[in-house]
Amino acid sequence: MDINRLVRKNILELKPYTSARDIYEGDGILLDANENSFGSTFTEIEGLDLNRYPDPHQNDLRKIVSDYLSIRRESLFFGVGSDEIIDLLIRIFCEPGRDNVIIPEPTYGMYKVASDINNVESISVLLTDQFQIDFNEIEKVYNSNSKIIFLCSPNNPTANLLNKKDVARLCERYNSIIVVDEAYIDFSLKGTLIDELKKYNNLVILRTFSKAWGLAGIRLGYCIADFDLIKILFKVKAPYNISTLTRYVLSKAFLNSKTKDEYIQSIITERDRLKHQLETLKGIENVSDSDANFLLIKCKSPKEVQKKLMDKGIIVRDRSSQPKLEGCLRISVGSKEENDLLWDAIKNIL
Ligand SMILES: Cc1ncc(COP(=O)(O)O)c(C=O)c1O
Repeated sequence: MDINRLVRKNILELKPYTSARDIYEGDGILLDANENSFGSTFTEIEGLDLNRYPDPHQNDLRKIVSDYLSIRRESLFFGVGSDEIIDLLIRIFCEPGRDNVIIPEPTYGMYKVASDINNVESISVLLTDQFQIDFNEIEKVYNSNSKIIFLCSPNNPTANLLNKKDVARLCERYNSIIVVDEAYIDFSLKGTLIDELKKYNNLVILRTFSKAWGLAGIRLGYCIADFDLIKILFKVKAPYNISTLTRYVLSKAFLNSKTKDEYIQSIITERDRLKHQLETLKGIENVSDSDANFLLIKCKSPKEVQKKLMDKGIIVRDRSSQPKLEGCLRISVGSKEENDLLWDAIKNIL
């Protein structure tokens, strides 16, 4: 597929912002960017050079993550959280007031919000009762202005993986960008669609450091996609979108990637323990299987349960107004102590 044919005309023609450092790399006397050559007012961490703008080409981040995942650097782009990338993709492919995106629901709310912000129509279709892709539903609404289909696997808030074959079929069937948000993939034992990238240049995989890596505070996400698509993301992004501090933290976190693996193990153990406990409560009709770091439970009065938990200082998410999620609350798997407190509270409520 020729990706460029899907890109908005103004983006194809865009002359991106350039800086003198696009044509110069090395340690010269940097008098090109109106920085403060005397130094920075923040001196707690040595060697960070916070008085200088960070590398716009994201070379350091690309090296760390491409080595870790054994993929090509040119297939990586980093954003201020994966939320920034969702917004950039809509801006690249969707002409406001004309194009649309398709969102199989229930799913993560930002795909719709980002579309609304950009004045791009979002067409909501339903997932099946097993929360898988419903081809008939998509076929009914798909048209030549449908530029992106947003999928999430494992899906938030239903916690299940999408069938790989279904995603592949969508990539084949439609001349559109198929985004698969893998924010929770680290909690799943199977499932990533990375291998499919070799076959489909319209597939974009979104990832984030906000979940398994425990780095929600640094705001860093990335996508893996076809080189041409990545080049367009670089053209459109703000020149220095990822801060030096974020890069510093990430480089240190990768020295500690074993801790991330231990977190994942602990979260999966706690997830399974909590699920078994909750399943014993009569007041809970269903506890979802989960490939993520949260559980979806179904009960009679979710709003009341949420309120009573909140009165005890425990915050969970009411998802009961989303399609197909009547009675549902989403509960993040906490630490062992937090889960024990949740269990004590909820068994008294229900
Ligand atoms: C499915 C999904 N994608 C993306 C995000 C946001 O990720 P980030 O923190 O990288 O913006 C979330 C946050 O909860 C999420 O649930």
